Amino acid sequence: MNPERKLRVGLIGAGFIGRTHVRIAKSVPTIEMVGFLDPMAEADHADLAGLRRHGTLDGLLADKLDGVIVAVPDDLHVVTATHCLERGIAVFLEKPAARTLDECIALSRAPMVGSRLLVGHQRRHHPATRLAKSLIEQGQLGRLIGIGGVFAVKKDDKYFVQRPRGVGLVNLIHDLDLVQHLCGRLDHVSAAVSHRGRGAREEDTIALTMEFETGVIGSFIATDSSPSPWGWDQATTELPSIPYDAAGTTYSLLGTTASLSIPDLKLSRHRAGEAWHHPLQHETLKAAGADAYANQLHHFADVMAGRASPLVGITEALATQAALEAVFVSAREGRRVSTQALIDAARRSASHIH
Ligand SMILES: NC(=O)c1ccc[n+]([C@@H]2O[C@H](COP(=O)([O-])OP(=O)(O)OC[C@H]3O[C@@H](n4cnc5c(N)ncnc54)[C@H](O)[C@@H]3O)[C@@H](O)[C@H]2O)c1
Repeated sequence: MNPERKLRVGLIGAGFIGRTHVRIAKSVPTIEMVGFLDPMAEADHADLAGLRRHGTLDGLLADKLDGVIVAVPDDLHVVTATHCLERGIAVFLEKPAARTLDECIALSRAPMVGSRLLVGHQRRHHPATRLAKSLIEQGQLGRLIGIGGVFAVKKDDKYFVQRPRGVGLVNLIHDLDLVQHLCGRLDHVSAAVSHRGRGAREEDTIALTMEFETGVIGSFIATDSSPSPWGWDQATTELPSIPYDAAGTTYSLLGTTASLSIPDLKLSRHRAGEAWHHPLQHETLKAAGADAYANQLHHFADVMAGRASPLVGITEALATQAALEAVFVSAREGRRVSTQALIDAARRSASHIH
């Protein structure tokens, strides 16, 4: 395609995150936001100025689009993304790719899904993640042996009024994606799930033990019911609606020669030949680059133009969805669960249905 031509992108779902993407797209020179579909959106919202409003999905898709940003509620993700892929349009699909593993398997059968679907786990595009990933690959931490982490925020009651939701599909799914990006595919999960924070039907707290196919092991706890500086959202400046906390961090990566906290990038190690009876040497690293959401849209432009394979594609979405499903199966049945066994079972039952 002509490298000078801007890629024409439509927005489906002009709510909180959809409009955030429109604002950020203004800083991405290769993308032009041309239209949107959202029957409930305010017609004259400043973020949507200049975008043509469409009344139907096919009307939007007929506007010579290269790609769409899908930011509708979770229950519409798979059906909307599949419809767009069937019409040959590249899709940037907000997380979670699907609500269940079965839905994700259905999405994996859409045409061109492997090369034309990017899922919105923006943390992978964060400069701190990019630096951490390259340090791991260069062996700067030695042999990676473990990862620990916490995501803990206190959400207000009104957040749950219109749409009851649990911390798993809303928040932990991001962590399950990022730990696999850093440590390899998760192959076994053991978990406990609690409702003690809010007393609601949906879980508010999840603790899990993770075993990665690389041999790395880890543990993580996520809750939407406790105020803390530990969690990606407060440890970064990604979302202006969540104040940055300078004490914030979320993951601790443990290697045989150094440990690294992410995203605050504190590297700790001993001098050569020294060990735990000697003082640690600390260094805070700096990661250069634009923010995660802007990087993500630049990457989507490359995916649309066929210059890049999706960094978070259907394979990664399936792995993440299987890991989340494994959390709930493990907590329910009190056992250690294989993610691959869940994927195989879901594929078998999907092929019986078709
Ligand atoms: N990556 C992230 O960190 C992140 C952050 C926030 C939200 N999200 C995800 O983005 C999605 C949207 O979340 P949100 O917070 O923006 O919700 P929201 O409720 O603010 O926005 C959803 C929008 O979709 C519109 N909509 C509903 N049905 C539609 C339809 N059939 N066609 C077109 N538009 C329709 C609604 O009118 C609403 O404006 C969710 O799946 C959520 O999980 C991801």
